[in-house]
Amino acid sequence: MDFGRLLKSKAKPRVAESPPVSYLDLKSKSFFIVASVEVGNTTTKSILTATDMDTGKTYIVNKTIKMTRDVRKPKPGEEVFARTINSTPLTKESIAELVKNALLESHERARLDIKTDLNFVVRSTGVVAELDSPDQVGAFILALAQGCLMAGVPPRLMTPAMSIYNIPAKFKRYSLIEKVIFNGAVASVYPPQGSTGVEVVANEMEGELATAGIKEGSKWTDVDFRNPCLCMDFGTTLDGRITSDELPYSMTIGNLCGLAGAIPDAVVQGTGLVNKQTGATLDIFDPKAKADYGPEAKKYADRIDALVSVEKVPSSRDKYGLVPVSPDAAAKNNVVLIGCDVGINGSDLCKLSGIGGEIYRSKGLKTLFGALDMVSARIARRLVEVGIEEGIVNKKTALGVTGRAGISGNKPSLILEEVGKLNLYDEPDKNVVFVDDGLARGAAVMARCMNSMGTPKNPLGGLRSGKCILGQRMECEAKKGVAAIPQVAKPKQETQAYFKGGHF
Ligand SMILES: Nc1ncnc2c1ncn2[C@@H]1O[C@H](COP(=O)(O)OP(=O)(O)OP(=O)(O)O)[C@@H](O)[C@H]1O
Ligand SMILES: [Mg+2]
Repeated sequence: MDFGRLLKSKAKPRVAESPPVSYLDLKSKSFFIVASVEVGNTTTKSILTATDMDTGKTYIVNKTIKMTRDVRKPKPGEEVFARTINSTPLTKESIAELVKNALLESHERARLDIKTDLNFVVRSTGVVAELDSPDQVGAFILALAQGCLMAGVPPRLMTPAMSIYNIPAKFKRYSLIEKVIFNGAVASVYPPQGSTGVEVVANEMEGELATAGIKEGSKWTDVDFRNPCLCMDFGTTLDGRITSDELPYSMTIGNLCGLAGAIPDAVVQGTGLVNKQTGATLDIFDPKAKADYGPEAKKYADRIDALVSVEKVPSSRDKYGLVPVSPDAAAKNNVVLIGCDVGINGSDLCKLSGIGGEIYRSKGLKTLFGALDMVSARIARRLVEVGIEEGIVNKKTALGVTGRAGISGNKPSLILEEVGKLNLYDEPDKNVVFVDDGLARGAAVMARCMNSMGTPKNPLGGLRSGKCILGQRMECEAKKGVAAIPQVAKPKQETQAYFKGGHF
């Protein structure tokens, strides 16, 4: 008997827990409450988190999720400035309304007051497919700010604190703002930086939030998810980061982009069970139904997998998997761009719909969901493989997965199994972590970074199995001189948008 295999097969995926928090605690203890407002290609979310400032742990207080396709139609005179991957038209006004309603609903359901209970709002979007270049995402973030203001969010909750006087009395003792200032590094990772000033990839900000969120979520597990790490966010689109093995701050040395949930969605759109253009896997997914992972499912997974490309983004592309990219800026900034596509910018997604129709008619939904879980697991493994080939992923790298198309169904077990095939780790289960609501958790981290609030006893930054980096950060900043830091770190879109947001 092969005991190694037996042990491996028993390995349990580490999925971050998400325990509830009581309303009484929320109101009486030192909880820092953050709203993460995310407009995705499939779902629009207002997720409220509460971080216990004494332990550093983050709790999900409320998730209000809407389908982005249900946004109201553009009114005459409004400009359609973005479209989702499935062509739902969006105007600044319609997005602002969507965001306003989601924010109000989530606060109402959590019995929290936007003006008195909320401490910060972080806005992000995955809707970047229609943009011409990675830089244009800033305009979208501003439209989200408008929605927040309409919901009654005080503008100061959208900009970083500049001094201890801006920190609410209740949290002053937790802020280290007089020792370390926010310099662009979130959870001790710098965004890609260099002299070009051009964004490498349009969903950089999502990758940044997902990275920070997986780091936070891992605190609920026994996986040490500090740097170096590889983070994958399987939304409708793919985003993520690979970080370096450096102290006190790590660099972003890899970015992920392209299609993710859009792949299963195309398969499902072919079944006739959902709308052919705007239907999503989410519409028919039943978490209680058991999927079939037998030889038939495997055969279909092989066929789908063969249509999916996972590779280093060729230098000729300005979009990969529909996501605007700048391979040139990536090369200049020493960032490896790794993408996932089906044909060229989704040109073969229709072939996936054909396969979807075939699986459903001949084998049914169990086989279909089995095949889809396998496909996601293989994409995850292939992304890691390209990272290894490019020399930016090694056995020290922790792997993290978030996003519905990466953690739903039986994907965590299958991803663990696929990663096991790479023989990268002695114990894959201790090096791979799965986190629900990664972006919202990341927003909670970013909000605290922007107010220089950390928990040195339970550090998020630094290296795997290392100590907290506060001492080194202070030393590093004293050497450079605080004023010099913003020039060293290129401010990322979110920060820029925050500053612009201040003009409202
Ligand atoms: N069981 C499942 N199997 C595969 N994919 C799934 C499953 N359930 C949901 N998905 C897919 O996950 C995606 C939605 O995830 P999520 O809400 O994280 O994306 P999003 O935030 O709207 O997208 P993005 O940020 O990329 O614009 C959709 O493509 C959806 O169909
Ligand atoms: Mg998303």
